Amino acid sequence: MLNLSTSLIWPGCAQGKYTVRAKGHILAVLSWGDAEAPLPGWGPFAYVPIDPAGNGTFFYPGRRGIPRGTTHVWARCYASDFGHREDVSAAIPAKYLPTADEHDSPSKFSVLTDLHLAAKPGRVRQALRAAESNTILLLGDSTNDGLRAQFATFETCVEDAAPQKTVLPVAGNHDVLHPSRCGGSDDGCGNYEDFQSHLLTKAEKSGCGISHDPDGRAYAARVGGFDVIGLQCVTAGRRFTFPQGRQLDWLEEHLADTSAPWHIVLCHAPLLAHNPARNTGAPYLGGNGRLQEIVNRAGRVIFLSGHTHVSPNVLAGNGEYDERHRNVYLDCGSVVPTDTSGENGMMSPDWKDGCVTELSVTESVVEICMRSISSGARFPRGYYRFETEPS
Ligand SMILES: [Fe+2]
Repeated sequence: MLNLSTSLIWPGCAQGKYTVRAKGHILAVLSWGDAEAPLPGWGPFAYVPIDPAGNGTFFYPGRRGIPRGTTHVWARCYASDFGHREDVSAAIPAKYLPTADEHDSPSKFSVLTDLHLAAKPGRVRQALRAAESNTILLLGDSTNDGLRAQFATFETCVEDAAPQKTVLPVAGNHDVLHPSRCGGSDDGCGNYEDFQSHLLTKAEKSGCGISHDPDGRAYAARVGGFDVIGLQCVTAGRRFTFPQGRQLDWLEEHLADTSAPWHIVLCHAPLLAHNPARNTGAPYLGGNGRLQEIVNRAGRVIFLSGHTHVSPNVLAGNGEYDERHRNVYLDCGSVVPTDTSGENGMMSPDWKDGCVTELSVTESVVEICMRSISSGARFPRGYYRFETEPS
């Protein structure tokens, strides 16, 4: 006799306890579903060992969302030889189900980070094709070595795989030449700057209004009423010290002077307090403390970073909502295979896959959905839906 029960905490939020009774089984695989079956296109969110007494428990931390269309949790229970399996489902109490679609039509962005193009462009083409939105945000390490030929290949990939799309980039540490390749006054950033200029010129031609900081190392683009800010945090020597040190002055003034329902900040490395790989010790960013203060003072910031390659499928998760300052932080999984270090026990074969992050934003809702680039399957552990008060 199988039994499945849930004990949730917040409406629309997956956080809580999931209990399986499955005597004679050794494993239960949990998925979202409706009354008939698991949701198509979504992978499982937990692999739960069943003890000899037939009990299994999963504690889901963090603030992952429950995808719309869900009414039930499903458990597929396997016997010890994996030759026999049975399914059981449990209805989620109505007060915990996600709310209906809002009336506003959302603006959509596809986020790609850490593509690390070296010689072969297949993975980059695949990632660009997997992006569903008309605006693609590149969070850095687009290339592996910052070479002119690699950026040229990347531009060709965009022309082949996403010719009509607006592509807004920032630099990662790998987009700056290694110091051993620089000579004289070369800071190693020139190849990336030409790449950014090419993409921003194209974006402007398609009607995207863009303004730059005085040093040309940060910009703001107006996309669908939202304020997208590209913040170059990397400088010579691949150090995260903000070139010229004036980007943060510009950012502070820009956020104070610019009204938008959301400011979407692109910054290759995460802030220390919102880094899924480490939130103590030394920050990546030289101006970490000041940048955090600026973001807190502004509010209504969606801070997007990469660099860590952390898989969205690690249990702790990589999305946060700071209700006090009304800021969203998301450290996006990489396009190269993602890192599941620290994740114990059985996991889905695609949890290490490179991923694309789809962002769907209205004034009051930020919805985040990460998918495997290889299989296209949506990761429940990479799904968040933050409801906020309008500004
Ligand atoms: Fe990086």
